[in-house]
Amino acid sequence: MIKKFLFAVKMFFIVGKKSQTFLDAKWIRLLLKSTPQKYKKTAALNILALSPHYFFGERDDRKSFLIREYKRNLRTRQLLFEYIVSRHVTPQSVVMDYGCGPGFLAKIVAGKAKKVYALDISDGVLLCAKTINHKDNLHYLNVFKNEAARIDDNSVDLIYSFAVLQHVSENLIAGIFDLFYAKLKLNGKVLIQVQLIADGWKTEMEWKKDQTITGKLKYKYGLHAFSNSVSFYSDKLERSKLKFLSMVELKDVLPFPFDDIYNQQLISAQKLPIDANGNFVNEELSSVDHQNPVSSSGSRLDD
Ligand SMILES: C[S@@+](CC[C@H](N)C(=O)[O-])C[C@H]1O[C@@H](n2cnc3c(N)ncnc32)[C@H](O)[C@@H]1O
Repeated sequence: MIKKFLFAVKMFFIVGKKSQTFLDAKWIRLLLKSTPQKYKKTAALNILALSPHYFFGERDDRKSFLIREYKRNLRTRQLLFEYIVSRHVTPQSVVMDYGCGPGFLAKIVAGKAKKVYALDISDGVLLCAKTINHKDNLHYLNVFKNEAARIDDNSVDLIYSFAVLQHVSENLIAGIFDLFYAKLKLNGKVLIQVQLIADGWKTEMEWKKDQTITGKLKYKYGLHAFSNSVSFYSDKLERSKLKFLSMVELKDVLPFPFDDIYNQQLISAQKLPIDANGNFVNEELSSVDHQNPVSSSGSRLDD
């Protein structure tokens, strides 16, 4: 109980004004901005370690913990690039990384693409990302400050999002998919990693039902982790005029369980032309080159 209470206190001090904006507290932004250049990277890593999102495991020796977690983020995001993202990226691609966190994957992609827009909701984490994962063609933007407006409509070839949507309230999903639709070029692709309903995972409604003090504190200050059905995502995508293409089990795509997302799923969607009646006209969909796809009508898991 005391441990949970202390955790809630810590979250209270690092979260910004809006829900789930970890590391967006004013003191964190001021601290990073005022840290001398030569200590900025170390400060950024220490700040990232305060969030429930990025660094995990034993914290016995602070320095080795930070180095180990920095290297783990780098290595796991390199594998996500190699096994999932790389086949969709060319040197001409304009890419959006939605929920980029510290920007490890965004920087790797920026090394292979023309331009990457990396979006998140916390200025604190975006400042850390700029510090440790800077690149000239990589632009970090805050969604909650409407900085996505700086991206031209119909200009993005690929949008991907890893380890993000399970942390997002259902009422925000439609707006996110509308943003994807607005920014994508025609035939542009979306790859979103999701957590489907499964043992050990609660839906948002189940979280909200817990009206105990701990339950309320967890919902307000803790990290949200929600599961949803395939039809939830396919309906929301199609309401935002994005064609659901397929869903794959990530364990069928990734070489070994190097990250939590190994047990999760990847949905592909595409912005296709739409006729006057609102139907997708081009049924010659670009091939979905991940193994073992499941169609929205024949989904295997919880529908
Ligand atoms: C677990 S981290 C994943 C970071 C990165 N995608 C990766 O795989 O390394 C989840 C990130 O999603 C961001 N996030 C949470 N809610 C969001 C929302 N509604 N829109 C955009 N980003 C969000 C968090 O701030 C956090 O940086």
